[in-house]
Parts: sequence; structure tokens; C-alpha cells
Amino acid sequence: MKVLVLGANGMLGHALMDVLGPRWEVEGADRGEIDIRDAAAAARFIAGRRPDAVVNAAARTDVDGCEGDPAGAHAVNAEGAGNVARACAGAGARLVHLSTDYVFDGLKGSPYLEGDAPNPASVYGRSKLAGEVAVRERQPDHLIVRTSWLFGEHGRNFVDRILDAAAGRETIGVVGDQHGRPTYAPDLAAAIGRLIPAAYRGVVHVANDGVTSWYDYARAILELAGVRGVRVEEIGSGRLDRPAPRPPYSALDCTLYARLTGGHLRHWREAVRDHLARRTGRVNR
Ligand SMILES: NC(=O)c1ccc[n+]([C@@H]2O[C@H](COP(=O)([O-])OP(=O)(O)OC[C@H]3O[C@@H](n4cnc5c(N)ncnc54)[C@H](OP(=O)(O)O)[C@@H]3O)[C@@H](O)[C@H]2O)c1
Repeated sequence: MKVLVLGANGMLGHALMDVLGPRWEVEGADRGEIDIRDAAAAARFIAGRRPDAVVNAAARTDVDGCEGDPAGAHAVNAEGAGNVARACAGAGARLVHLSTDYVFDGLKGSPYLEGDAPNPASVYGRSKLAGEVAVRERQPDHLIVRTSWLFGEHGRNFVDRILDAAAGRETIGVVGDQHGRPTYAPDLAAAIGRLIPAAYRGVVHVANDGVTSWYDYARAILELAGVRGVRVEEIGSGRLDRPAPRPPYSALDCTLYARLTGGHLRHWREAVRDHLARRTGRVNR
């Protein structure tokens, strides 16, 4: 089995290269080798590599940046995804495409199922939803993997931001009115490895176990990292005044993943422990 990973220099892309590498023949490519906005170049590149499967982790992921640049977000997350899908169909490659919990408005109040109606509140969410539609239309042999609140090495992520913010401060403010499921990039990569050979086509939700708020998540990070003497103040989203609205409750229901694979992802706290152990070795057991 030959797998081509697009967005290989990103947070998930790195994890995919690490986790899938020993199992299959895996090639990674990033923007320097293939700009997914260019349909002809994408088709040429993918056909030339002759992969059995493509994992598309390439995306414009800066949620607030997307809000001020809808055309730029759409070009990568919607048209780019469609270009990759068409290229995969032409090359006979199964496509695993990454999407997000931000396709939901977060008003349901309980975990989202794959069949729930999306209603994105942000430009980023709308561009990712348009990408899902393009993938569905252009490559029948696809899997759309929606995930949430990613953290891992090789990228801006909440765990590291909280530790950086806490350094030398007595108080940090963290929002308590957004809830979701933190997901560890290597755990997601392993889950994608289980899904690639599955016969299933369509959308599947994959996230670590456990639902939390950014506030409780931040407190757990500091506790697990053994950081003392820093007070976490719970604040409302309004205080941050960010350009893009976020869903208040975007936890994903991952029952379908469990049914397809016979497994589930561990609790996010366990994954944070691993991330911290890799990052600093400073973990409170
Ligand atoms: N991060 C999260 O919390 C989160 C949550 C839910 C879903 N997701 C989804 O999961 C996937 C992976 O996210 P991630 O956090 O690993 O993203 P990331 O770290 O931002 O990586 C994305 C990669 O895509 C590349 N890229 C951007 N534009 C491109 C283009 N036009 N052509 C080719 N490559 C391009 C980027 O390259 P440059 O660095 O050169 O721009 C980067 O290497 C995305 O589909 C994202 O929407 C992420």
C-alpha cells in the first residue's frame, strides 16, 4: 500500500508521517511540492506518485485569519480540497480528507453525529464544509474525517500556548463557554491508519475521549505539567474579541468510528500526559 500525505509539514501531517511510515510506503508533500489550489499541478503530482490512498491534511487552519480572507480560505479549503478529490478520482486513489467540528454551529447541546446538519458560523467552517461537499461530489471513494481541538508537536497548539502564557504570570484568563474534545495528533494519525483500509465511505468523527471547556483543559494542562502558583481565571468568549465566532459546544460523537474499527481513542488527559512527556519530561504522575 502506498500512501501520499498532503500537508506533511503541518501538525497532523508530521504525526501521519511518523505513525503511518513504518506500516506502509508513505510519501509526504507540502506546499513547496504541491499547491492544492492549482488543479492541474495537483492532478499531475498525484497521478505521478501513483498512490493507493491520499490523506489530505493540507488546509488553511488559522481560524481568525480566514475570517478576514474568505477568498483565500475558500481557495485552499474548498477549491483545493476539490482539486485533490478530482485528482484522486483520476488516479484511482482513495481519499481521506480532514475536516472539522467547526462545520457545526455548536447549539445542539450534545455531541454531534455524522448525520447532523452542519451550520458553520465562521468563514473557516464554511470553507471546510464546502471542501467536504467538493470531495463528496468528485471522488466517491472518500472518507471525510472530522476532528477537533488538535494538539501535538510541530504546530501552534493550545497545550504549549497555555504553558508559555503561564510562564512568569500569576493569572491567565481562559474561556469557559466553549466545549469540545481535545485530540492528540498522533492518536488521530493512528486512527486514520485504521480507517484507510476500511471499506466505509462517507463522514466519520474522530476525537480523543472526554468533553471539556478550554478553561478546564487549561487547568488540567497546568496540573499535569506540575505548574503551581498560576491562577486560571474563567472568562467569556466575548472578552477575547476574536474576529471569528466559535461554536459553544462542538463535541463530536465518535460512536461510528468505534463501530467501524472496534476501538476508540483514549481520554485526552492521557494524551496530554504523553505530549508533555515528549515535550519536557515534566509530568506529574
Ligand atoms: N488544528 C486544529 O485544531 C484542527 C481542528 C479540527 C480539524 N482540523 C483539520 O485537520 C487538518 C490538519 O490540521 P493541522 O492543524 O495539522 O494544520 P496545519 O498544522 O496548519 O498544517 C496544514 C498544512 O497545510 C499546508 N498548506 C496550506 N495551504 C496549502 C496549499 N495551498 N497547498 C498545499 N499545502 C498547503 C500548510 O503549509 P504552510 O505551513 O506552508 O501554510 C501546512 O503544512 C486540516 O484539514 C484542519 O482543517 C484541525
